[in-house]
Amino acid sequence: MKLISPTEVEVIVKTLLNGCLVAFPTETVYGLGADADNEEAINKIFSAKNRPVDHPLIVHVSDSRKIEYWGKKILPYVYKLINEFWPGPLTLIINSSNYVKPLINANQDSVAIRMPSNLIAKTILNEFENNGGNGVVAPSANLFGKVSTTTATSVYEELNDRLDDSHLIVDGGSCEFGLESTILDCRTEMPRVLRPGPISEKRILRFLGLDEVGILRNDFVKYSGMHAKHYSPTVKVVFNENPTAGDGLIALRDYKTPQGVQRISAPVDSKMLAHELYEAFRRGDKLGVKRIVVLIPNGTELEVAIMDRVKRAADNYNPQDNGLNLESGI
Ligand code: TXA
Ligand code: MG
Repeated sequence: MKLISPTEVEVIVKTLLNGCLVAFPTETVYGLGADADNEEAINKIFSAKNRPVDHPLIVHVSDSRKIEYWGKKILPYVYKLINEFWPGPLTLIINSSNYVKPLINANQDSVAIRMPSNLIAKTILNEFENNGGNGVVAPSANLFGKVSTTTATSVYEELNDRLDDSHLIVDGGSCEFGLESTILDCRTEMPRVLRPGPISEKRILRFLGLDEVGILRNDFVKYSGMHAKHYSPTVKVVFNENPTAGDGLIALRDYKTPQGVQRISAPVDSKMLAHELYEAFRRGDKLGVKRIVVLIPNGTELEVAIMDRVKRAADNYNPQDNGLNLESGI
C-alpha cells in the first residue's frame, strides 16, 4: 500500500472511483474504504482482510440526505438522532434500499450507515460525493480477528503485504476516540444498541426520551462481536486483576507500576485510555509480555464500550492461536 498525505484529496477520490481501496482515519478507528456502488472494489476489502462475506459493512457518507439513497422506510426518530449525533461516532441500522449490494449488508434487508466527524474523512467523502459517489463502505482497517487500527503505521503493518501500491493509506495521525462507533438498530420503534461505543446507550435514550427498560438486545441480526475472536491481541488479556511480574499494564497514570511489570499505557483519563487502548494492545504483543492487564476506570460515558472491547479480548484468548483465526473475528 502507498502512504499518502490527506491533502491529496483529488488522488484519493480518484483511487476510490477507480475501484481501489483507501484506508483513511475516522474519529473512531481507521477504515478500509471502497466505493459502495462498486462490487468488485468491495470484494477486495473482504479478501484483503480475510473477512468472511457474512459480515456486513458500514456505509460512510458526508451528506445525511444519502440515507434516503441507501435506506427506506426510515422512522422519524432517525432524523432526530442524525440532527443530534451526526457527524460523529454513531452508526444507524435502517431498512436497506435496492441500491445496497448484497456484499454490503450480507444479503439482509438492512444497512448500516454513518457520517464521520473526522475532518479528513469528511473531506474525502464530500469530494467523493461531489464526483458522483454515493458512499464509501469501510470496515476497520485490520485483519479479521485482530484489533482495529488507530494509526496509519498500524494500518501499514497490518495490511501492506495484502495490498499492492494501487491502494492507499491516508496518513492522518491517530484517531480521536480509538474505539469503534456505537451501532444502533433503528428499525423498530425502540432502538437497540448492537455495539456499545463512544456515544453511550444512556445518552441516546435520554435524548430520545425513552425509558431504558424498553430496550431489548437483539440477538438475531449479524453484528459485531457475534463471533468468538474479536479485538484479540495474541497475548492474553485480563482486566481488573492485580498485575504481577512479566505482565504489561494499562492503567490510569496515578496507578503505580508494580516491580517487574511493564507499563504499556498510562493515560490520564478514560478518554485517553480508549484512545490508546488498541495501540497499547499492539505494543504488548510486540513486547511479548506475559499477559496484558487492563484496569478499567469506572463511572464515565466510555466505560461500557471500553469494558466491551477489553472483555472480548480477554474472553477470546487461546494460547494455540497464531493470531489469525479465519472462523471468527471481524
Ligand atoms: O467506527 C466504526 O464503526 C469503524 C469506522 C471505520 O467507521 N468501522 C467499523 O466497521 O468498525 P467494522 O466492519 O469493523 O464493524 C462494523 C460492524 C460489523 O461487525 C457488522 O457486523 C456490523 O457493523 N454491521 C454492519 N452492517 C450491519 C447490519 N446491516 N446489521 C447489523 N450489523 C451490521
Ligand atoms: Mg472491525
